[in-house]
Amino acid sequence: MDWEKYYETHKMSLRDAILSLPSDAVMTAGHAGSEPRALLQAVCDYKEHFKGARLFSIVLMEEAPYCAPCMEGHLRYVTMFNSAGSRNAVKENRADFVPVYYSEVPSYIKNYYKPNVVLIQVSKPDIHGYCSMGCCCDFQRAAIDSADFVLAQVNENQPYVMGDNFVHVTEITHIVEENRPLPVLGAAKIGDVERAIGKNCAALINDGDTLQLGIGAIPDAVLLSLKDKKDLGIHSEMFSDGVAELIDAGVVTNRRKNIDTGMSVATFLMGSQKLYSYINNNPSVAMHPVDYTNNPLIACKNDNLIAINSCIQVDLTGQVTAETIGTAQFSGAGGQVDFVRGANLSQGGKAVIAIPSTASHGRISRIAPVMDLGSAVTTSRYEVDYIVTEYGAASLKGRTLNERAEALIAIAHPDFRESLRQQWLKRF
Ligand code: COA
Repeated sequence: MDWEKYYETHKMSLRDAILSLPSDAVMTAGHAGSEPRALLQAVCDYKEHFKGARLFSIVLMEEAPYCAPCMEGHLRYVTMFNSAGSRNAVKENRADFVPVYYSEVPSYIKNYYKPNVVLIQVSKPDIHGYCSMGCCCDFQRAAIDSADFVLAQVNENQPYVMGDNFVHVTEITHIVEENRPLPVLGAAKIGDVERAIGKNCAALINDGDTLQLGIGAIPDAVLLSLKDKKDLGIHSEMFSDGVAELIDAGVVTNRRKNIDTGMSVATFLMGSQKLYSYINNNPSVAMHPVDYTNNPLIACKNDNLIAINSCIQVDLTGQVTAETIGTAQFSGAGGQVDFVRGANLSQGGKAVIAIPSTASHGRISRIAPVMDLGSAVTTSRYEVDYIVTEYGAASLKGRTLNERAEALIAIAHPDFRESLRQQWLKRF
C-alpha cells in the first residue's frame, strides 16, 4: 500500500479522533519523553464522552489531568509505578495501582489489561513510512498488537530513536499532527550526601562493567563519579543526560559488553532538550521493549552487570522497600527487582541499593530496625546484595542476620547507630 496516501486519509483532528473511541475504552498511553500530551489533554477535554474508561501509563512527567477528581466516573487511571501526578488519585482510591514487575508489563498488557485503544506519540515517518516511538518503547508494541484503535500524535519534535522502536504508518488508525515541545526533566539536585553516595558506588564499579541506573539524584551523582573509568557499558531501563555525557567523554564505549556490543540499550528516556537532540538518529543508542531490557535472563548475559537503584527503607535483615512509606504506595517496584536479579545472575555482577542514610531532613533513619507497618517488600533479603549510603557500602550477600545488622548499622547515620544497635539486641 502507498503509505503516504494512507497517512493523508487517516489524518484527523484531535476532536474527531477522541470522539470516535468507545466510551468505555481500555486505553494505554506512552510516557516519559513520549507522553502524547495533546491526546491525553483531549481525553480530559472530552471527558463527557467517556464512561467507565481506563487508562494505563507509567512515568508521568508533570501534572496528570486525567488523574484529577473531575475525571471520576469517566476515566480511571491504572499504573504499576505511582508518580507525583497519580499519588493523590491512588491514595483517594480514584486510581489503581497494580503490582507488576516492569519486565512483565508487556505480558500484563497482552494477557490481563487487554487494551483496545493505544495513545502514542511518534516521530514523523521516514521515507519508508516508519515512525519512531521515540523516548518510550517499553510496552508500546504489546499494546499496539492488542488494540483496535491506535491513535498517534505525530510530533516533529519527537526524536527518531533507533532500536526495536518503530511503528509503521499503516498500523496507525488515527493520525493527529500536533507539534509540541517534549517534556523536559530538570537536573536533579546533587548535594554533599549524594556526592558521597556517588563516590561509594563508584568504588564498586570497575573498568569494563555494564551499568543499569535508575532515575534521580543518586544515579546522577553516581554518573558524575565515573569520569575516570574506562570502557563502561549501558544496559538499562532508562537513558539519561548523565549517560550521554559519559559517552561524549569516552567513558562509556559499550566495547566490553557481551550482548549489544557497542550500543547503549534502554527502554525509555527523558531529560533535557540536549538529550533529545543527542539521541535523534543516533545508532549507538538502541531502545528495546522492556521484556528485553529488563528480562534478568537477558540482562545477565552481560558479565559484571552493576545495577544501581534506590529505596525508601531497608531493615536490619536487608529487606528493602522502594515503593511504600508504611501503607502509602509512594512509587512502585519498577525495574528494581528485574535488575537485582539480572545483576545477581551476571558473572561478577553486583546489585546496589544506594540511599541517603536519612529522610525527612534527617529526622528518620532509612535503615530501620524493622520495616514500617504495612510496607511492601520490594527486594527481599534473599536477593539483596549491597546497600550503600554516604557512610560506606554494606555487602549483605552470604552474611548472617547478625553480620547484616552490624554492616548496616555501620553505614547508618551516626545519630541513629546506637538506637539501632539497642533495638537489634532486644530482638533476641
Ligand atoms: N520514611 C519516611 N519518609 C521517607 C522515607 C522513610 N524511610 N524515605 C523517603 N521518604 C520520603 C522523603 O523524605 C521524600 O519526601 P519529601 O519529598 O517530602 O522530602 C520522599 O519520601 C521521597 O524520597 P526520596 O528518597 O527523595 O525519593 P527519590 O525521588 O530519590 O526516589 C525511590 C526514591 C525509592 C522512591 C525511587 O528510586 C523509586 O521509586 N524506586 C523504585 C523503583 C526502582 O528502583 N526502579 C528502578 C529504576 S527506575
